[in-house]
Amino acid sequence: MKGLILSGGKGTRLYPITYTRAKQLVPVANKPVLFRVIESIRDAGVSEIGIVVGNTAREIKEAVGNGSRWGVQIVYIPQEAPLGLAHAVKISHDFLGNDKFVMFLGDNVIQGGISSLIQDFERHSYNAQIVLKKVSEPQHYGVAELDDHKRIRRLVEKPRKPQSDLALVGIYMFDQNIFKAVNAIKPSWRGELEITDAIQWLVENDYDVHPYVHEGWWIDTGKPIDMLEANNRVLLETKPHVAGYIDRSSDVDALVIVEEGAEIINSVVRGPTIIGRDSRLVNAYVGPFTSIYHNCVLENIEIEHSIVMEQCTLANIPNRIEDSLIGRNVEIRYSPIKPRAYKLTVGDNSKLGLL
Ligand code: TTP
Repeated sequence: MKGLILSGGKGTRLYPITYTRAKQLVPVANKPVLFRVIESIRDAGVSEIGIVVGNTAREIKEAVGNGSRWGVQIVYIPQEAPLGLAHAVKISHDFLGNDKFVMFLGDNVIQGGISSLIQDFERHSYNAQIVLKKVSEPQHYGVAELDDHKRIRRLVEKPRKPQSDLALVGIYMFDQNIFKAVNAIKPSWRGELEITDAIQWLVENDYDVHPYVHEGWWIDTGKPIDMLEANNRVLLETKPHVAGYIDRSSDVDALVIVEEGAEIINSVVRGPTIIGRDSRLVNAYVGPFTSIYHNCVLENIEIEHSIVMEQCTLANIPNRIEDSLIGRNVEIRYSPIKPRAYKLTVGDNSKLGLL
């Protein structure tokens, strides 16, 4: 069994963060989503992994390397443009050969790992196994319609009137017959080779495609709100520990992770929350569901339910920050210099909620 992680794409829904960073490297509870995906595959016993990369190839290679950190071997498969998930499979044929493989979208986070899924696939002779999850708004997803015997009848990409509430989770298992499918299908109206069309081709040509309904949570971190939701879920499941320094006048509850070199001075921190390596809080309130990445400084501010990436400075802000995704090296401070006004240097397509 091999692993295939899709880490190309454009990430338009996460602009402006993804102008300068691969979305798969955005940290959730202070660990890039892509690292979590690699760990899930490794923990399921798969050690040969191919990563499909696009424009952000250099950044991804720099962050991930050859996989030795996780005890796996990683190779990179360049995709000339984001031409679809089935296109990514097509260009990975040389790497995958005739082995069975698990394909995992590099921006998805799933509860409980994928070991049982992989075991299930290896035990049976299915040609493909897809993972489904009940969702409340199926029109935003690839949707699977099942028949009375729980066999797949049809797959539809973002249906206007969904006939089922079972969305396709971004984890798929295939044998070599998928290459017949990806070579047979044509690009969709949006110009992409769709994986739903390839799986539909397998169904129509009598290959055995098994649906596995996932009961835990699953998040596709396409939009900022999804990143925050993934951050909430992962923080709730991460074991708290304190490796940094907390002074006596601070109040830090038992659900907080304080990483090495972090300093908390005269501040209040409520978990689940993580304060990253070498970050410093002074006279700050950090509320639940917040991840502060490494080397940040937070002084005289209040923040909750947010992700702050590395090397940010947030200082002397009169109102509380909430529900925010703040990129790398960002500086937000209150300026005492008159006239009292907002003085902004903001990138394209940014969103600010000002009072
Ligand atoms: P998507 O979220 O469908 O696409 P995207 O990343 O381009 O985002 P947006 O819609 O906001 O522009 O992609 C799911 C995952 O698959 C993501 O990790 C990127 C990856 N991908 C590829 O590697 N190659 C592709 O051709 C496509 C479409 C996606």
